[in-house]
Amino acid sequence: MGFGKGYGKVILFNEHFVVHGVPAIASAIDLTTDAEVVRHSGKGIDLIDNRKGTKGYSKEKYAHQMEALKRVTDYMKFNVEKNPIKITLGGNLPTFSGIGASAANLVAIVRAINDEFRLSLSDEEINNTAYEGERAFAGTPSGIDNTAATFGGLLWFKRGEKNAIERLAIKKPVEIVMGNTGVVANTKEVVAGVRERKEKYPERYNKIFEEAEELVYKAREALLNYDLKRVGKLMNENHRQLQDIEVDGKELNFLVDLARDKGAFGAKLTGGGVGGCMVALTPGKELQETVASAMEKEGFQVLRTKIG
Ligand code: PMV
Repeated sequence: MGFGKGYGKVILFNEHFVVHGVPAIASAIDLTTDAEVVRHSGKGIDLIDNRKGTKGYSKEKYAHQMEALKRVTDYMKFNVEKNPIKITLGGNLPTFSGIGASAANLVAIVRAINDEFRLSLSDEEINNTAYEGERAFAGTPSGIDNTAATFGGLLWFKRGEKNAIERLAIKKPVEIVMGNTGVVANTKEVVAGVRERKEKYPERYNKIFEEAEELVYKAREALLNYDLKRVGKLMNENHRQLQDIEVDGKELNFLVDLARDKGAFGAKLTGGGVGGCMVALTPGKELQETVASAMEKEGFQVLRTKIG
């Protein structure tokens, strides 16, 4: 049996802006999707999904997943007709949107195939392979999700001909809360909407993009200095910029305001926006619990996890 893991992630700064080459900061979270691969006597790929939060794949997600697996195995030059496999997915990462579940699942699967068939792929090759699969879910993703899912840790990421990826070392991990709006949004469409508006209103949008670029360098410095109050403030500002490019949503704003009211150092939407998840910076177990339970009281699903 082959085994592999992929981390979930949270984007702390500059989702959407990152698609257009502005640097972003993301962190893996301490939750993973795990994959087991065994050879079987059936045909092609048999996929069993035991992940939390999935009540069977929706038809659309299942089609994307199958397309992703085809892309991944083609890219690896792995012949599934010759080597039929059964893949079982599990782990403690729920399949909320905005936490990188699709990338985590692809990294886990590629690692498990690599393990079972002793392919000796490097992390970089695993990352590139998962990126090919991600394209089935998200068109032309920036690559930030699969990078965090593969390497873990806190990462500086800039999209380019060759992506610039840098590990940011901080003093110690920090507690965060992720709140799930329960609203499902189509990331591909939200990304396309930003591109359209950016073309339509170049002056206004370019200004916001410049501000987001300035902000992420400040955030990097604040993280490296472990100045969490400042990191939180900058997250709040980044949320404002994301509102300015119109990727926020009613439930997201509600959870962001609630987290701030309960003392979070900062809060913002994370990932594709409109629906999906938000993130609150809540250093210390006590503050994390206060913020998380307030959201649960309002009927939202939350994750208590850490970055860094
Ligand atoms: O919703 P997620 O977790 O897939 O994050 C999307 C992040 C975007 O910046 C909006 C798109 C991308 O490819 O980086």
